[in-house]
Amino acid sequence: MSQTLRKPGVDVDDALADHFLGLPGAHTVATEALLLTRDNLTDVIDAKAMMCVHGDAGLGKTLSVNASLRELLTPEMTCRVQFRARPTPRDIRYTLFDALAIGGTPPRKPIEFDLLLKDVLSERFRVLMCDEAQWMSRECFE
Ligand SMILES: Nc1ncnc2c1ncn2[C@@H]1O[C@H](COP(=O)(O)OP(=O)(O)OP(=O)(O)O)[C@@H](O)[C@H]1O
Ligand SMILES: [Mg+2]
Repeated sequence: MSQTLRKPGVDVDDALADHFLGLPGAHTVATEALLLTRDNLTDVIDAKAMMCVHGDAGLGKTLSVNASLRELLTPEMTCRVQFRARPTPRDIRYTLFDALAIGGTPPRKPIEFDLLLKDVLSERFRVLMCDEAQWMSRECFE
């Protein structure tokens, strides 16, 4: 029997993908951390603000955010991105270009690229979920 393993945090169209290696039959437990994350996300989404979830490895940060977003929003309202280790602003632009499914050829000049991304991002409300954000430099955040 063959099975496709999923990457938690990015391939997250269904709840199974939240679990380590897409473990078949895994259930999500409503832990205090998950419920707190969901409450905080509800407030942050209402305020159209930003939040950061941090904690030790494997505590359930990615799972809590993904499970909460799935409950609070429709899939079209959520855009999930994950950058490779130490991304550059160029990596950020191309990852967002793909994640937002813009299509066509990406602009060659950074200024034009940024304008395009800002235009698309301002078209409608979305939550941008960036996993492993600790790899981003200050310049990348900006
Ligand atoms: N509330 C929960 N219910 C069921 N399983 C959970 C829950 N929270 C975490 N897990 C299990 O623990 C695994 C690790 O969780 P997760 O990937 O969310 O941790 P993390 O904090 O994002 O780790 P890292 O810092 O390495 O990114 C999940 O894949 C899942 O199998
Ligand atoms: Mg994680």
